[in-house]
Amino acid sequence: MEDGLSLLCLFFFLLLFMGASTAQMPGFVSLDCGGTVNFTDDIGLEWTADDQVIYGQTTNISVANETRKQYQTLRYFPADNRKYCYTLNVTSRTRYLIRATFLYGYFDDNNVYPKFDICLGATHWATIVISDADMIEVQELIFLALDSTVSVCLSNATTGQPFISTLELRQFNGSVYLTQFESQFYLSVSARINFGADSEAPVRYPDDPFDRIWESDLLKKANYLVDVAAGTEKVSTRMPIDVSSSETPPQKVMQTAVVGRNGSLTYRLNLDGFPGFGWAFTYFAEIEDLIPNQTRKFRLVLPGEPELSKAVVNIQENAQGKYRLYEPGFYNISLPFVLSFRFGKTSDSSLGPLLNAMEINKYLKRNDGSVDGSIISSIVSFYSSAEWAREGGDPCLPVPWSWVQCNSDPQPRIAKIALSGKNLTGNIPSDLTKFGGLVELWLDGNSLTGPIPDFTGCMDLEIIHLENNQLTGELPSSLAQLPNLKELYVQNNKLSGTVPFGLLKKNIVSNYTGNIDLHKGGNRGSNNNIIIGLSTGAAVLFIATIASCLLMHKGKKKYLKQDQLERTMPAQRLVSSLGDAAKEAAQCFTLLEIEDATKKFERKVGSGGFGVVYYGKLKDGKEIAVKVLTSNSYQGKREFTNEVTLLSRIHHRNLVQFLGYCQEDGKSILVYEFMHNGTLKEHLYGPQTHERSVNWIKRLEIAEDAAKGIEYLHMGCVSCIIHRDLKTSNILLDNNMRAKVSDFGLSKLAADGASHVSSIVRGTVGYLDPEYYISQQLTDKSDVYSFGVILLELISGQEAISNESFGVNCRNIIQWEPLMVATQAKLHIENGDIQGIIDPSLCDEYDIQSMWKIAEKALMCVQPHGNMRPSISEVIKEIQDALSIERGAESVKEGNSDEISRNSVHSSLNMDLGSSKHCLSIDEAIARPMAR
Ligand SMILES: *[C@@H]1O[C@H](CO)[C@@H](O)[C@H](O)[C@H]1NC(C)=O
Ligand SMILES: *[C@@H]1O[C@H](CO)[C@@H](O)[C@H](O)[C@H]1NC(C)=O
Ligand SMILES: *[C@@H]1O[C@H](CO)[C@@H](O)[C@H](O)[C@H]1NC(C)=O
Ligand SMILES: *[C@@H]1O[C@H](CO)[C@@H](O)[C@H](O)[C@H]1NC(C)=O
Ligand SMILES: *[C@@H]1O[C@H](CO)[C@@H](O)[C@H](O)[C@H]1NC(C)=O
Ligand SMILES: *[C@@H]1O[C@H](CO)[C@@H](O)[C@H](O)[C@H]1NC(C)=O
Repeated sequence: MEDGLSLLCLFFFLLLFMGASTAQMPGFVSLDCGGTVNFTDDIGLEWTADDQVIYGQTTNISVANETRKQYQTLRYFPADNRKYCYTLNVTSRTRYLIRATFLYGYFDDNNVYPKFDICLGATHWATIVISDADMIEVQELIFLALDSTVSVCLSNATTGQPFISTLELRQFNGSVYLTQFESQFYLSVSARINFGADSEAPVRYPDDPFDRIWESDLLKKANYLVDVAAGTEKVSTRMPIDVSSSETPPQKVMQTAVVGRNGSLTYRLNLDGFPGFGWAFTYFAEIEDLIPNQTRKFRLVLPGEPELSKAVVNIQENAQGKYRLYEPGFYNISLPFVLSFRFGKTSDSSLGPLLNAMEINKYLKRNDGSVDGSIISSIVSFYSSAEWAREGGDPCLPVPWSWVQCNSDPQPRIAKIALSGKNLTGNIPSDLTKFGGLVELWLDGNSLTGPIPDFTGCMDLEIIHLENNQLTGELPSSLAQLPNLKELYVQNNKLSGTVPFGLLKKNIVSNYTGNIDLHKGGNRGSNNNIIIGLSTGAAVLFIATIASCLLMHKGKKKYLKQDQLERTMPAQRLVSSLGDAAKEAAQCFTLLEIEDATKKFERKVGSGGFGVVYYGKLKDGKEIAVKVLTSNSYQGKREFTNEVTLLSRIHHRNLVQFLGYCQEDGKSILVYEFMHNGTLKEHLYGPQTHERSVNWIKRLEIAEDAAKGIEYLHMGCVSCIIHRDLKTSNILLDNNMRAKVSDFGLSKLAADGASHVSSIVRGTVGYLDPEYYISQQLTDKSDVYSFGVILLELISGQEAISNESFGVNCRNIIQWEPLMVATQAKLHIENGDIQGIIDPSLCDEYDIQSMWKIAEKALMCVQPHGNMRPSISEVIKEIQDALSIERGAESVKEGNSDEISRNSVHSSLNMDLGSSKHCLSIDEAIARPMAR
């Protein structure tokens, strides 16, 4: 019975031993995956074809402007439940950089981009998410080798097929990346930046003898080094830089820098893998000529980390001279995903700050893998020529070898070894008796010789199959000491002696037949050489049935069975339930599953333009929001699947997570994570808002979250995604009142329906960009317009569109005269009064400055012409400034000097909310000049 299962989960792996190359630098290995020839590239790196790999397939690709030979080929693997490993020789107790790169290039002609995992040994290294077919995805890790080999394994394809373009190993020979945590943590490289670079090309080998890639600060990619302060200039020198040790940044990197001529250097960048703890170092060398009375002193400023701002950098003093390296840093610092940092000059410094390079790595917890790892690798090395012995990586993690099953302990133990019919010779390896968690052992149908070893080291053993071998000697009486033994098969061997009495006494299923010299205990000398344990016929069957039921039950608890594996692999299910291309996608739920989860659509939690939303709970306890789309004009099944596949590739902390879909019985259903705190709209205007209104600082945080989600849609994805329908009911709040944007991508799904007219104007009255309405040209600035309206709602507590609030014939918030008048007053004369438009439920709990900042930005967002509106990133910056004002005020308040200067702006125009609901026409509103 278990044998059938093991057949089902046949995993194939590969193993490749690469020697230390005799190349350029000791300890460099450069594998050209899918390549067929060895070659040396332009920069002197020696590439080796991975042609010894027996699994996977190779293919050629061609990507515009990518001429490097190693990127003309790749190796890809089936999208199944297996792992595929490369094993590299390393020197133990040595630090290395390992780099894996992935250039997709549409090798499979599929319109679904691949997404899969890579592991270093048993440690989950990264999830590779391809989002641009022509861009090389790079993952780098710095590690201390503790063993003589290291494995990189690809597995768990959720979309597409796993593939790899290159695998590079670079040995360090010193201690620059030494940390006190290195036996438990790897350093995953997040940012390695060369400031003041000459071009977009990175600096690497041979400039960097260890071939680290120092990325140019000019490189254009989403959210990489934005918000650069005005007055930032690049400087460079040809003078040699004393970098003191060869593993600090190479001279070429240190010869360029940026200088903040206005006193500040500011940057914002996304740190992949963060938030978390990291290793962060900055590299400085004075490369400008300072005249005697000039000084350059500055401090690092990180938002929310005042302690870190105390140290003053004075490069020449710290480095003890010009053209010398100074490298302050943090061995362990907590960093956010979006890092904004500033270097600001001190008040007594005559020159602004200077920065040459920076390196940020994230600590990645090392997974030690199965406790049985070293024992099984000694067994495996004995059979090193057999395919099953060359699977590589950890025996259990992230998925077990084909012939192994493991229990679910955090550090898993091997529970089943299935080596039936593998042509094994010699003695039963004595190491097999050291697996403390072993439950099943299948060695039948081999050519094993010698005695049966003492298995009392494996006290959990339940099933032993040793039949059809050449085993000799007696049946050890120690077998009777295994408390859980249920099945023992030793037939057709060359065993002799008597069956131990202890075994005969036990209630086990057994077969001792076919051993000429083996006798039943107490019957020695009789001719009875055929012994069947217990009885015959019905009794045997009966007991076997009970035993197997027990085993099934127990086994389920202890280690993952095939059906459980399948449940963790949504991609597999789709393959069987859908047609051809584009099938590996988001999880496809059956209507039955959805009905179960929602208790037949029992609890409605919302409804909107796209459909009705129901609450649901999956079998594993996960809460979901199920959106049943109303329109039945959706495209055919295939287009729908393509579209939801696109959705499933969009991941951001400020976007509601898309979990899957269902299209059955004419119903189109989307499944999302459930957001406990409902919509922003409910919090602004819902029934309970009078008792507990959302305060200003919270509103700013919500605005920041939502804007970041939108920024990601606009800039972080492959092609810019325009939401088209931003509104307060599409901003959802989680348990911690953090906001996420929902319904992205749906406009497209709905609009491109049967009519095939893609420019149907969609959106919600009140939020709809007038320019888009007129021109039908959709741009990201249309979303900015809608976001401006949301900001106005946050300020005023007035709905974007209302039958009452704004007076007769005036339903739109931007036509609301008090708002217009107040804002223009502010723009024309310094002291406008916006009190009249501020939500009374904010109860003066806000700083007037931060309120103004948002009001002004909101008005910019709703400018009639898109090109006059700011980008969403600029809006984020303004919100963050407003937040820091509020937080500053908060801490002052906590410091007991209450209500300083709050709301103290002079009232020159006192607009009363109740009495002046005058309304401007939309044309009038737009026509009024906005001073700036
Ligand atoms: C890698 O190491 C193993 C074990 O020491 C050795 O047998 C093998 O030859 C090495 N591979 C190469 C290509 O040097
Ligand atoms: C490439 O070099 C490796 C060892 O350096 C060798 O084992 C392999 O056969 C070579 N492959 C080709 C295609 O020459
Ligand atoms: C490829 O390079 C050419 C010339 O260097 C350039 O004009 C073109 O824009 C590049 N194309 C891409 C896709 O980068
Ligand atoms: C595979 O990846 C998905 C997400 O991409 C994750 O939820 C799942 O746990 C992974 N499965 C395994 C076996 O690692
Ligand atoms: C530095 O010296 C220059 C002239 O050499 C002078 O103009 C300037 O004011 C001085 N600056 C300071 C900060 O002393
Ligand atoms: C079994 O092993 C023997 C000797 O090592 C070999 O000659 C034979 O081809 C192997 N058979 C199989 C099926 O692997």
